[in-house]
Amino acid sequence: MNDLGTECMGVDLVCPVCKGTLDRGEGLLSCQKCGKEWRAPGGIADLRLSPARYWGEYPEDVMDRLVARCREAGWNAALKEFFLERDPQYYDYTLDKRRADWHLLVPIGRESRILDAGCGWGTLSFALAGVYREVVALDAVRQRVEFIDIRSKSEGLKNLTPVCGQVGSLPFPDGYFDLVVLNGVLEWVPMMEEGVSPATAQMGALKEVLRVLKKGGYLYLAIENRWAAINFLGFKDTHSGLRFVTLMPRFLANIYSRAVRGKDFREYTWTYWEHRRMLRKAGFSDARFYAPLPTYRRFYYMLPIKDSSKIKFFLRSMAFPRNDMQRFFILAANSFFLYKIARYFVPDFSIVARR
Ligand SMILES: C[S@@+](CC[C@H](N)C(=O)[O-])C[C@H]1O[C@@H](n2cnc3c(N)ncnc32)[C@H](O)[C@@H]1O
Ligand SMILES: [Zn+2]
Repeated sequence: MNDLGTECMGVDLVCPVCKGTLDRGEGLLSCQKCGKEWRAPGGIADLRLSPARYWGEYPEDVMDRLVARCREAGWNAALKEFFLERDPQYYDYTLDKRRADWHLLVPIGRESRILDAGCGWGTLSFALAGVYREVVALDAVRQRVEFIDIRSKSEGLKNLTPVCGQVGSLPFPDGYFDLVVLNGVLEWVPMMEEGVSPATAQMGALKEVLRVLKKGGYLYLAIENRWAAINFLGFKDTHSGLRFVTLMPRFLANIYSRAVRGKDFREYTWTYWEHRRMLRKAGFSDARFYAPLPTYRRFYYMLPIKDSSKIKFFLRSMAFPRNDMQRFFILAANSFFLYKIARYFVPDFSIVARR
């Protein structure tokens, strides 16, 4: 019936353009409806609309060499060697399954099917595959998906499927997943989805996520806060490297970004209220906001934002400042009214929303 190997066989894939059924054959997927053909080199379906786009901390040829080394020396040894040379902390970070502990906030059962959209190195995908029935790890960067493929085969995982694709044009049928994860991804989506405004690209991605969710399914969205207190203090925005850029009106941010980095400002983050509005507009309901502390990337606390008594308790009893600035913040936030508004200025948001 097919020549694609077992990797993408368990998962129903559709044409990312017209959502038509795909015929599988000889390393190729062809759309019954629009006739477009998609490749699946090495058994990994490549369903990107713009395969030439590359995003990443490391140049593409460096990533190609890493993948080759993973095949040669084993993924773990290769990864360790790779990060020890470049960014030693990142090795632990990439393997730290506790980064997915937020899943306990989402009321889904073990039988669930999950999409980790923009999965990166697959840290969350591997953690979730240890708990839930089926996980699909999707990323637009081919090398990352190949890394996940090598690692999951070496670990003998049967319930983790790597797919190369774009969040704005997901290659899955309607109502397919119980949970879709966007962890540190929405702000980068406009970089991959060119030709439209950043806000339109992000809205398109959210609507695609809604489409592939079952009725009653969940979105987990983790992202930096546009109004994080540190942005007002002039700390660099982690995406663009620019100071104060998130606080400016977008047109001004764009002029500033062009002047300083010679390119548009597209890495949009949003405030608490903007997120609420965006999710509602995309069709989600019931958005519950949490403050992952210190960051969503690696958190030790997850504070429900609505509950000011919990924020107060945290500030009084659990927050241990490590420097004068933190001490000042905590003191200020502890004051009668500030702890009530502190929630709008937290570093990041973790949001659980429902279809
Ligand atoms: C900051 S990393 C986060 C990785 C992972 N979610 C994690 O938390 O470890 C962002 C990832 O999103 C991917 N990405 C960005 N825009 C995308 C898009 N439109 N479609 C698919 N993947 C995308 C990037 O390739 C990158 O791997
Ligand atoms: Zn098609």
